[in-house]
Amino acid sequence: MKREFQQLLLDKGWDRLPRVLIASAECAPISKTGGLADVVGTLPKSLADLGIDARVITPYHRCVKDKYHDQVEHMFSFSVDQGWRSQYVGIERLVLDGLTIYLVDNEYYFGDKIYRGGIPEGEQYAFFTRAVLDAIPNLGFFPDVLHCNDWHTAMLPMLLRTQYGYFEHGRMKTLLTIHNIAYQGKFGFEFFRDLLRVEDRYFTPEFMEINGCAAFLKAGCVFADRLNTVSPSYANEICDPFYGEGLEGILSARRHQLSGILNGIDKKVFNPHSDPLIPKRFDKGHLRGKQACKESLMFDMGLQADPGTPLIAMVTRMTKQKGFDLVERVLDEMMGFDICFLLLGSGDKTYEKFMRDAENRHRGRICSYIGYNEELSHRIYAGADMLLMPSLFEPCGLSQMIAMRYGTLPIVRETGGLKDSVIPYNQYTGEGTGFSFANYNAHEMKRAVECAVGLYRDYHDIWEGLMRNAMGMDFGFERSAEEYARLYIDLL
Ligand code: ADP
Ligand code: GLC
Repeated sequence: MKREFQQLLLDKGWDRLPRVLIASAECAPISKTGGLADVVGTLPKSLADLGIDARVITPYHRCVKDKYHDQVEHMFSFSVDQGWRSQYVGIERLVLDGLTIYLVDNEYYFGDKIYRGGIPEGEQYAFFTRAVLDAIPNLGFFPDVLHCNDWHTAMLPMLLRTQYGYFEHGRMKTLLTIHNIAYQGKFGFEFFRDLLRVEDRYFTPEFMEINGCAAFLKAGCVFADRLNTVSPSYANEICDPFYGEGLEGILSARRHQLSGILNGIDKKVFNPHSDPLIPKRFDKGHLRGKQACKESLMFDMGLQADPGTPLIAMVTRMTKQKGFDLVERVLDEMMGFDICFLLLGSGDKTYEKFMRDAENRHRGRICSYIGYNEELSHRIYAGADMLLMPSLFEPCGLSQMIAMRYGTLPIVRETGGLKDSVIPYNQYTGEGTGFSFANYNAHEMKRAVECAVGLYRDYHDIWEGLMRNAMGMDFGFERSAEEYARLYIDLL
């Protein structure tokens, strides 16, 4: 055990490292829609390297059943009340790459999509909350810390305190990590009264109320013993009304218990030197393979341009958060820089349509692959020259870190984790790992793109220097895991 942890534990009067149960709606590689899954899949493995036994509890989604059913072991089952329904709960265990994942099975709630949207989604995760709390005493693994993530698991701390206080596990410590404050799980009071037996006295602004509704996430912000988010800048931002989405009051009041821990990425999965999903391997010292990845990517995506043409990519959920309004505004103008533009993503139908239309206007220069494709994402990180991430807000962002690891320079807006992970190019010192702009303004973004494209074309040596800087950054999860370990110990 690290000496620092020994000392911290001693100060707390503990003689062992805490056990942690991480509750989440998704967990890579078994279920994933975004960065949350990556973090939940990677964190426990890095904690294990520090000697911390951290396990995950997550729904047994359809996609998990389809792929892993023959590796899953049934542990036990029981039933819980959900309003007027009595519902089956199966607890299954999957051990993957040394990580123990407990899966909550119920075909009615988890037999389809990870997120059903609207009230059905609230019902899925109200059920999950109850199932987790009732399952914990029988898992054979008693956590000291219950680590919740985002709104889907944010009711756990409140129910623990208000309904399980008289059980042993009701005294577990809780941490809530906010990966994205824009999604809060807001429903009418009756929803919480009926499905989770929440008492009426909690429907006030000091507890769960927000704009006449009640929210899962607000309950978590009020009741979790500690709060954190996924970058130091976002921790500051969410205390401000522009980013706080109505929770800035409670978060400012608890600012001393709210920290920002920058995420990391799995350096084994994202490694240009050994990635089996890319056509040619490369590293900092041997960049030639990257050009081969670019050419094969352009060919397969139908991009018909000289291989020296700057290739700008986006790999993203297509939502307002990701800055699509800026892209919509100036994409045609940017195409005037004689570039190729490749998008991999899915989401809002209006943005999807915009990208399809843009592809038709710029045949052979723009390619939009609408959908989710893991393999293609790796090929893009490896083959593109630049990754555009002009987010309106970005709690952390993993894509820019992955891009840097593959020598693809990010062009980002200076917000949240983008600000904390990308060092903007400095023309006087030659320092930098990417490019950035400050305001949410389409023409500011366009200028940043123009600057990057100009440098790429005319100053090859500087560009290669920036690529090496980017590839030399250490975004491994080890550093984040140490910070989480300190936080867990501090909670004991
Ligand atoms: P967010 O979680 O807000 O979507 P992040 O940057 O934190 O953003 O994480 C996104 C993760 O999902 C990255 O690993 C990225 O490569 C991946 N990703 C996003 N969209 C797609 C897609 N269409 N196909 C494959 N991977 C995707
Ligand atoms: C959320 C955020 C993203 C972050 C991810 C993992 O999806 O939008 O910025 O990287 O969670 O924490």
